[in-house]
Amino acid sequence: MPDKTPQKKILVIHGPNLNMLGKREPHIYGHQRLEEIDDQLIALGKKLGIDVETVQSNHEGVIVDKIQQAMGNCQGLIINPAAYTHTSVAIRDALAMLDIPIIEIHLSNINKREPFRHQSMIADIATARIAGFGSHGYLLGLEGLAEITRREVHK
Ligand code: DQA
Repeated sequence: MPDKTPQKKILVIHGPNLNMLGKREPHIYGHQRLEEIDDQLIALGKKLGIDVETVQSNHEGVIVDKIQQAMGNCQGLIINPAAYTHTSVAIRDALAMLDIPIIEIHLSNINKREPFRHQSMIADIATARIAGFGSHGYLLGLEGLAEITRREVHK
């Protein structure tokens, strides 16, 4: 009998300027391009039995729309809100509506950087945060999310 259990679906959202990874301040953000990171996430998702969808936008409203669409459709969300981390009440409010685990990712260790980057508007509503591992942080986040959703304990 084929396994009828539906695949878990996880949405990965990359915020503004992350489409420029590889070219953008590589001493801070590394040399890997976003497409390479997304490919690795999708490949890891296949191993973990998770359907991974990725999206990048430079626009706050588009990110809010995507978060809203995750409601009822995804079992977990990984987000690097990039600069919106520090400013966006709209993204925070959208995330607060979800009842699924949310992993906050940053390539750099934001607490080691300029003071304005120390504040995250989503830190207290995220299930977990990974920062400072470069692009590998996304893979760590997906592994962690797979574990959390397996155990179904997150909030
Ligand atoms: C970032 C850190 C933010 O402060 C910055 O605005 C980014 C990327 C990171 O991944 O380290 O764009 O979220």
